[in-house]
Amino acid sequence: MTPSERPVLLVTGSRKGIGRYLAEHYLKKGYFVEGCSRGDGDIGDPSYHHHHVDVADEKAVRGMVADITKRHGRIDVVLNNAAIASMNHVLLTPAKSANRMLEVNVTGTMLVCRDAAKVMMRRRYGRIVNFTTIVAPIALAGEAVYAASKSAVVTFTRILAFELGQWGITCNSFGATPIMTDMIRGVPQDKIDAVVNGLAIKRLGTPEDCANVCDFFIHPASDNITGQVIYLGGVT
Ligand SMILES: NC(=O)c1ccc[n+]([C@@H]2O[C@H](COP(=O)([O-])OP(=O)(O)OC[C@H]3O[C@@H](n4cnc5c(N)ncnc54)[C@H](OP(=O)(O)O)[C@@H]3O)[C@@H](O)[C@H]2O)c1
Repeated sequence: MTPSERPVLLVTGSRKGIGRYLAEHYLKKGYFVEGCSRGDGDIGDPSYHHHHVDVADEKAVRGMVADITKRHGRIDVVLNNAAIASMNHVLLTPAKSANRMLEVNVTGTMLVCRDAAKVMMRRRYGRIVNFTTIVAPIALAGEAVYAASKSAVVTFTRILAFELGQWGITCNSFGATPIMTDMIRGVPQDKIDAVVNGLAIKRLGTPEDCANVCDFFIHPASDNITGQVIYLGGVT
């Protein structure tokens, strides 16, 4: 691939966890990868650039997208992976914690989609994948606000598909099963086991599962696949 043919992919929340795995996965495939998080990234690949950006900060997101566009002139793919979770019974959930989850998970996703779509539409091509979770459809007790924020991401993505389809931009979401990252390390093992035992495929999820779904959604041939949500592990 010549530099002008190499696709440009933005993955949010790429400092660690699934986002980091995806950044490295797409670097191996020859993409230019732009990542962001609140902390500093340490992926050393010359085709990787880390932005110190909180996705809930409108000005910072605008600046990041402008910087990517200045250096590459395009954005082909956005993976909205950045999110926070706070597992808590609703009776014990402070408004501050709920607001922050909604701000990062819903508004942050919206801001990145909005600003990246303005760049994608110029080339009449784009692939957006937004991250949800199976805990929304399985209605997992203890995760009401987190699950609600991810349900909002699904609805947002379905409507975004209709708003952006005319410019060749597809918008899909997928919900992973539990994956052993920092996000769920504090969840009691018996609770994780109960979730896994309720799945059709009774195993923990992996970052490879996520890359597989992203590969499918962002493939150029997937131009007629939009507004969809795929839940892993047999959840519907
Ligand atoms: N792990 C699971 O079991 C699981 C299951 C289903 C779905 N998911 C979804 O998969 C995605 C990734 O989860 P994960 O397990 O990899 O989580 P994680 O290990 O906690 O990593 C979260 C990533 O997002 C970044 N981040 C957090 N808040 C941010 C913000 N405001 N702005 C920019 N970056 C931010 C973090 O970096 P900084 O701290 O540097 O900001 C980190 O790189 C999330 O959307 C999550 O909901 C996870």
